[in-house]
Amino acid sequence: MVQTGMAKILDVRARSVWDSRGRATVEAEVAVKGARGRAIAPAGASTGSGEAKSIDVRQAMHFINTEIRSFLMGKKLDQETIDNALIALDGTPDKSRLGGNAIVAVSLACAHAAAAAAKKPLWRFLAGNKPVAMPVPQIQIFGGGAHAQGRMDVQDFMVICVGAGSFSESLEWTAAVYRAAGARLAKRNALYGVADEGGYWPAFKTNEEALAELTGAISDAGFEPGADVAIALDIAATQLWRGGRYHLALEKKTLTAAQLHSLLLGWIDRYPIVSIEDPFAEHDMEAMASFTRTAGHRIQIVGDDFFVTNEKRLLDGKAIGACNAVLLKPNQVGTLTETLACWRAAQAAGYRAIVSARSGETEDVSIVHLAVGWGVGQLKVGSFARSERMAKWNEGLRIEELLGRTALPYPARRLFKTAQAPRW
Ligand code: PGA
Ligand code: ZN
Repeated sequence: MVQTGMAKILDVRARSVWDSRGRATVEAEVAVKGARGRAIAPAGASTGSGEAKSIDVRQAMHFINTEIRSFLMGKKLDQETIDNALIALDGTPDKSRLGGNAIVAVSLACAHAAAAAAKKPLWRFLAGNKPVAMPVPQIQIFGGGAHAQGRMDVQDFMVICVGAGSFSESLEWTAAVYRAAGARLAKRNALYGVADEGGYWPAFKTNEEALAELTGAISDAGFEPGADVAIALDIAATQLWRGGRYHLALEKKTLTAAQLHSLLLGWIDRYPIVSIEDPFAEHDMEAMASFTRTAGHRIQIVGDDFFVTNEKRLLDGKAIGACNAVLLKPNQVGTLTETLACWRAAQAAGYRAIVSARSGETEDVSIVHLAVGWGVGQLKVGSFARSERMAKWNEGLRIEELLGRTALPYPARRLFKTAQAPRW
């Protein structure tokens, strides 16, 4: 990571602000001479058990304003040193003493302050002089799981504009698909509202109906399913796992891992799916490895709760051949430095990565800068509605404009249009 070296921390403060679910969360502000940085901790609903633990917001504010503040005052704004010091100061394996929410807000605020002191946008500060590409968005159209009271079992039905030539074109195409999906639902009188991340919350009878409707919406919007716009799923299967079985409440089915495996393979055969996240529960290593062996050459298989942005868990997964991609959520592990370590480990292991928001978000756009600055290649921030989501897509548009012709080629076609036979 690029360092300013010189800037010294003059102040660290916390305040309580509100997130997209109307819940209190913590914002940290870090001041250096002539510049400051600010960041807000997001919050998940379908959290992995291996995540850094958030604590009560008042408590988190207290720790930032006292212990963390007195510890950081006068220290050089060097990200890795600060993050390692925060980890040591906390002293627990899951950041439960000072709080993962307190630590991630301070860690990100330090990065913003360092970039501001260097008079650079954060993405440029992180990239140094390296050329960068815009990330390919995964955008939710239907929301379910823990984000919609379990109405649908699958948490995210998303699109990836695999045939789009740029970030902005991907957003234009997604806007058309989002509207087409909404129109189909309105026509069938099958719309409850929107789920936590802004995707439609539909009254479908089966999970497969959502796949058929989404494929239909892609066509309605004038695109060829699979060739122009493809489907990505987040099963968030940890939420479905109870007593050794996967429970699909909507369809009143209880499946073994082997049966879920067959169900997902059937979906991949029948629908233009190019990516599946958390197809099995966080502890189900063997099921994940077996699914990767069977489907990993055809689709991207992403570990979210399965890896919790943890370098060690990623290496363990690699050792048994589980997944071929990792979701990167800074608040899942707690610091920017650990998030970067996971991304570096993923690159070394030949895994892809996707920088991701949480279901509880704010106007904070830090993750967009991480996706661009680190050259991660993909970005997931929820749906195409509600300003905590749109703030991030719009920040991407500003960065794309700034990059102009200096951007590396947009990676959508390279990532997703390789050996895809026209199966649909
Ligand atoms: P969460 O969901 O933020 O509620 O954990 C997002 C995801 O599972 O990707
Ligand atoms: Zn997920």
